[in-house]
Amino acid sequence: METRKLGQSDLEVSVLAFGAWAIGGWLWGGADSKEAVKAIETAVDHGMTTIDTASVYGFGLSEKLVGKAIKGKRVQVQILTKFGMSWDEKRGFFFFSSKDSSGKDVEIYRHASKEKVLSDCDDSLRRLKTDYIDLFQIHWADPTTPVSETMEALEILIKKGKIRAGGVCNYSVELMKEAVTSFKLASNQVPYSMVNRNIENEIVPYCIENNIGIFAYSPLQRGLLTGKMKPGYIFNDGDSRPSTPYYKEPNFSNILGLLDEIKPIADDRKVTLSQLVLNWTIRQPGITCVLAGARNPSQVLDNIGATGFNLTDEEISRINNFIIGIQIDTKI
Ligand SMILES: NC(=O)c1ccc[n+]([C@@H]2O[C@H](COP(=O)([O-])OP(=O)(O)OC[C@H]3O[C@@H](n4cnc5c(N)ncnc54)[C@H](OP(=O)(O)O)[C@@H]3O)[C@@H](O)[C@H]2O)c1
Repeated sequence: METRKLGQSDLEVSVLAFGAWAIGGWLWGGADSKEAVKAIETAVDHGMTTIDTASVYGFGLSEKLVGKAIKGKRVQVQILTKFGMSWDEKRGFFFFSSKDSSGKDVEIYRHASKEKVLSDCDDSLRRLKTDYIDLFQIHWADPTTPVSETMEALEILIKKGKIRAGGVCNYSVELMKEAVTSFKLASNQVPYSMVNRNIENEIVPYCIENNIGIFAYSPLQRGLLTGKMKPGYIFNDGDSRPSTPYYKEPNFSNILGLLDEIKPIADDRKVTLSQLVLNWTIRQPGITCVLAGARNPSQVLDNIGATGFNLTDEEISRINNFIIGIQIDTKI
């Protein structure tokens, strides 16, 4: 699989990476851990060597599954994980309330003080069963901690050899500007899909100009852009997708309408809708790597098929014309 250099870091990442959020089960209505491990093994064996996880995914479970799946293959893979979310300590900035997989109430806080970043790193290393993390990213900005303090902690971890590079997620241009005054930021990880192109206005131009890598997350809009979901689709209890704007009407039907319009382009190419959507995302300016979540080997193999061809400029512009025509209201 094609690899790309990540910003100013010396990391090379696969152009399509394995997203390990859903395999933690939390906010996804549960997950099958055995299938999850097989999914990661399949990804790595087929060249999708970059894996993105986070401490909070399944409250540590996702990182443990990643550690299990990459046993004996550490040098082949690039592990990206995230810090700065608390579910067992009420410190920092209150984010939201939820339930864990046993139905117990949990409160999620954003907390990225120096002390917390350093201890989160040790916890992640332990769960991942490794002695270094390729890219350590703040998951969500913590307004109770100065950005410079979080960046100082990343610098300490690089010096100690515990991480190779540091990055951010969900950072605005303003926050990135603050971060780069004291730290060589490798990347920003942000939401991006055919139906969510907000980053194109400010974040993409800033990252291109400053050589900061971009990870595009939720490129399949959490499964919706695969085309498998139709009205009446049944989600498991605890799956947060139906309560998010893209899954509510009229957005849901508008997005299905878009898929009907672009399906002939996929058919002509003899590729699946997921492959078409992921290839389009990989080809967008400024995008270094597309994070595609998957629960099992067959989803992984389908997604990897997105790297076996290149949409032409003409096909991309036909797709863009359809995208421009759809209405999405993210305030519902
Ligand atoms: N930094 C952040 O704040 C942040 C936020 C969100 C995501 N991320 C990262 O980005 C990654 C990707 O985003 P995402 O997982 O939210 O969404 P996504 O990649 O758009 O969608 C993933 C989900 O779609 C379904 N799916 C994937 N491939 C499929 C296929 N070929 N056929 C049928 N169904 C398929 C699976 O769920 P079902 O089988 O249940 O439908 C899968 O879990 C995450 O795993 C995570 O690593 C980061």
